[in-house]
Amino acid sequence: KTLVVAIDGPSGSGKSSVSKAVAKRLGLGFLDTGAMYRALTWHCINGQISFANAAAVEHAARSLNIDLSLTPEKDFVKVNGINVTGPIREPDISKAVSAVATNLGARAELVRRQQVLIAESGNRMVVEGRDITTVVAPQAEVRLILTASEEARMRRRGLQLGGTLSAAALEEQVLARDLKDSAVVDFQQAADGVFTVDSSELDFEQTVDAVLNV
Ligand code: CDP
Repeated sequence: KTLVVAIDGPSGSGKSSVSKAVAKRLGLGFLDTGAMYRALTWHCINGQISFANAAAVEHAARSLNIDLSLTPEKDFVKVNGINVTGPIREPDISKAVSAVATNLGARAELVRRQQVLIAESGNRMVVEGRDITTVVAPQAEVRLILTASEEARMRRRGLQLGGTLSAAALEEQVLARDLKDSAVVDFQQAADGVFTVDSSELDFEQTVDAVLNV
């Protein structure tokens, strides 16, 4: 039986870890679409492709080989055979990724690839990102937005990064990126038929249960 679970939400909402846990519990595949935007960003920086050169970024999106884990049990991302699992989570990538995410040609290509990967899973996958409920998989059986207050999101991202970042740096990491991303896709507002789960007052297990309930 097919079951696509589309989960969108801002950074620090717990989207990735919660989506993974949900995929494990339901025995579904898992696709972290943000990892694809991060992989393309890593490639542009590594290959000295200027973000200002929209055509070059789009061309990179089309020609790049991105091999990433499609199950919740594993976590790896490879770009043209190079393992970039760690590097794509570094702050320099987080800071630059919006420049790639605002490139509409690159987006169209990554969306197309994501749709292929979902189909190849037999339409049995949890897919998380910013535009899954609206653009990538609007026909998904389950669609939801995972939100949390700004305070909760900055606290979580701070813990995730080892508690070494200043409040100002965290704001840049979380709120500034959300603002830039919002210019492209509206992931804060649930579209018609899309559920909202607010995790501000929930711990990890409670959030997973809330999503499973939906
Ligand atoms: O770090 P966080 O979990 O918040 O973000 P991510 O899921 O790793 O996504 C990184 C970036 O990729 C986002 O800030 C967006 O700019 C972009 N993205 C997107 O535009 N559309 C998606 N479906 C997923 C990610």
